[in-house]
Amino acid sequence: MKVLGICAGRHGGNSETLLKEALLACQEGGAEVKMINLFDYHIEHCTGCEGCTVQMGKVEMGQQDKYHGCILKDKDDMDKIVNEMQTCQGVIIAVPSYDLTPSSLYLKFAQRFLAYELAFRIKIGDVAEDPHTVAGLIANGGSCLDWQSLTLDAMSATMFTQSMYVVDKMLATRNGLPGNVLLRPEQLQRAHKMGENIIKAINTPVEERGWLGDEGHGMCPNCHSNLIYKGETHWDGIKFPFECAVCGAGGDLVKGEDGEFKFELAENGLIRNRYENDARAEHLNEIIKTRIDYLSRKHETADLAKYYREIKFPAI
Ligand SMILES: Cc1cc2nc3c(=O)[nH]c(=O)nc-3n(C[C@H](O)[C@H](O)[C@H](O)COP(=O)(O)O)c2cc1C
Repeated sequence: MKVLGICAGRHGGNSETLLKEALLACQEGGAEVKMINLFDYHIEHCTGCEGCTVQMGKVEMGQQDKYHGCILKDKDDMDKIVNEMQTCQGVIIAVPSYDLTPSSLYLKFAQRFLAYELAFRIKIGDVAEDPHTVAGLIANGGSCLDWQSLTLDAMSATMFTQSMYVVDKMLATRNGLPGNVLLRPEQLQRAHKMGENIIKAINTPVEERGWLGDEGHGMCPNCHSNLIYKGETHWDGIKFPFECAVCGAGGDLVKGEDGEFKFELAENGLIRNRYENDARAEHLNEIIKTRIDYLSRKHETADLAKYYREIKFPAI
């Protein structure tokens, strides 16, 4: 049993301390534990070339034999990290909040995973089966939820492409300077509990795994995010009154007898559940369709494309 800790905070910082506490619990639970700090690795930005999904689309349509992966594969440490992650049954990620969101170092790392997207790679036959890795997420910041409102949920949103099932999340609040968290035994205890939860999830049969985090965490009954928004019509006509911004669950906001609003799932509310490989693989169909639609009409855009290409503004 292997668990990898991934930290995007300062060396000796609050995120790292919480992560170490969670990993100690994993070690006590019998796991072989490793920990990396993303500051120590060379990670290139995704260039947006879409070479990964273009290749995947071609393999899916029988126009290419084999998927060759990301064009940056041999240019930085990403492949090394992903290969290690794929040998682990559990991963715990600790990230500081910057401007209400996960730090850019973490997002740079996370946004390289499209090239490794498991659901897409299973669909095109590049990967035989889902390793069913479980994950725990720790967001940490100087303020309370109001100034970290997007961090945990944005981290959760990156977990689908990383193809891991999140069983626990925690928000560590009011930690400023490195070491601040040492004054917060309740947060250290909660991080320890996350490590225990990760071990518990690994030791539970895949089909019986579920949420092990705090009861009542978030509004979405499916992924426990807090981000519920008014739905709009999808590319294929599907529409829900409200949707979860993270997992894509659809439903409605209903006021319970206790006067509290709840997000109630529609009968078909999980058809777009991004936690499911099949529902996520459907997104590859959307990408392929959008691409085919554009390419079939690209010739219509030649003059307009030239017009914009030739407009030049001075840079600084
Ligand atoms: C650029 C920057 C932006 C920040 N923005 C926020 C914020 O929006 N909300 C918050 O709670 N803390 C914010 N912080 C504080 C850090 O999240 C906090 O110091 C955290 O403990 C850093 O984690 P670390 O010790 O693991 O590096 C910010 C810090 C920096 C450097």
